[in-house]
Amino acid sequence: MRISSELAKAINDQISYESSATQAYVAIGSWCERIGYGGSSTFFFEQAAEENMHVLKFVHYLNNAGAEAIIPATEKPQGNFDSLEATFQAGLKNEQTVTKLINNLVGIAEKEKDRATYLFLQWFVNEQIEEETLFETILQKFELIGRDKLAMYQIDQSLTSIRTETMSKGDSQQPAN
Ligand SMILES: [Fe+2]
Repeated sequence: MRISSELAKAINDQISYESSATQAYVAIGSWCERIGYGGSSTFFFEQAAEENMHVLKFVHYLNNAGAEAIIPATEKPQGNFDSLEATFQAGLKNEQTVTKLINNLVGIAEKEKDRATYLFLQWFVNEQIEEETLFETILQKFELIGRDKLAMYQIDQSLTSIRTETMSKGDSQQPAN
């Protein structure tokens, strides 16, 4: 096995958390779809697909390092929300938790001088900056545009362009390699 059992366990915990995040975003997308926030449901289903991609990155990493990726059961996620804003607040909170967990993983890799895992984790460090910025930018719109029905409609309709803008800014800040 190319990685320590402590690190393998920590990455399996991460797989479990990322799997829960996948389901949480599917549940939010489903609520948005039910209420009629079409732009937001598309946004959260895409977000769920990204989380699932993170799960797979960790699964491949563990399996290819000679460890065993453990696919977890997940708890039933929150299925109802008070407002559209509350869904994005839940998203930001989730991303902040993931950032902390990724930083913990980086800390373990550093402590063990596991350079390969450290480098592998850098992608997630950058990804989390982008994810937090994305949710913060969207939450800012509620302050700027408002919370009445027309504002909700405008925000719901603008999510795809907010995502595209945030992602392209993130890409331009990545070091060239
Ligand atoms: Fe993730």
